[in-house]
Amino acid sequence: MLRRLTPPGVSAFHVSVSIPRSRGDLQAFIRARTAPTRVPLCPELAIYAATEVTPLWHATAAELRDWDDSPFWAFPWAGGQALARWILDHPEVVRGRRVLDFAAGSGLVGLAAARAGAARVVAADIDPFCDAVVPLNADLNGLAVEAHGDDLLGLPLEGFDLVLAGDVFYERALAARSLSWFGELVARGVPVLAGDPGRNYSPSAGVRPLAEYDVPSSSDVEAKDLLRARVLELLADAAGYGE
Ligand SMILES: C[S@@+](CC[C@H](N)C(=O)[O-])C[C@H]1O[C@@H](n2cnc3c(N)ncnc32)[C@H](O)[C@@H]1O
Repeated sequence: MLRRLTPPGVSAFHVSVSIPRSRGDLQAFIRARTAPTRVPLCPELAIYAATEVTPLWHATAAELRDWDDSPFWAFPWAGGQALARWILDHPEVVRGRRVLDFAAGSGLVGLAAARAGAARVVAADIDPFCDAVVPLNADLNGLAVEAHGDDLLGLPLEGFDLVLAGDVFYERALAARSLSWFGELVARGVPVLAGDPGRNYSPSAGVRPLAEYDVPSSSDVEAKDLLRARVLELLADAAGYGE
């Protein structure tokens, strides 16, 4: 995107300024506005996180215009924390497997899979900030996690043995599309696990609960300091729920 600047009193003079969008620019922003922070339920992992919501939110809006009105990447969401905890405690589920962390945000769930011994971890998210923050978070933890920015939702996945999804049932359309896709993947033999703190569009059936955790959160983000979150195995008939 280009912005045209006209210095005061020089009406005929224009300067084109390119708003930075490169991965390096985004990473500089992330380093400046967040801090490496231990994940409450997974203290063996750290991510670049917003320690105070408002400054980051406002800085993002003011400095980066319409880039990032919801910095999902800057928090370890309760569903992701629960799923990451469960993966860390059940490494046999991911060990040696090719894992997709769908809707990865910070990449927390993918970090847990990599720490637990996955053969390959791809963290996919359509937010360009995730493409920037995932490598930072991988480096921070000394782990290998690949960032992927294309929208994979609904596509037939090739080359993955397991799909993990932290906190994706918070929005009606995303939940409905995700559940439909998850059902298709499961029917084709690709297991799907989700971490979910009981969002508005969480599946009410077609899932098998594996574990529950009380997840520390921030009252600035969630209006509560503690959220009960479940780890769910998706079943083939999960499609259609949440709509
Ligand atoms: C609540 S955050 C969860 C992030 C992370 N999984 C966690 O639990 O901390 C939801 C994420 O879903 C991502 N998202 C929304 N639609 C998506 C899509 N079609 N494909 C990939 N990611 C998507 C958003 O960009 C956001 O980062």
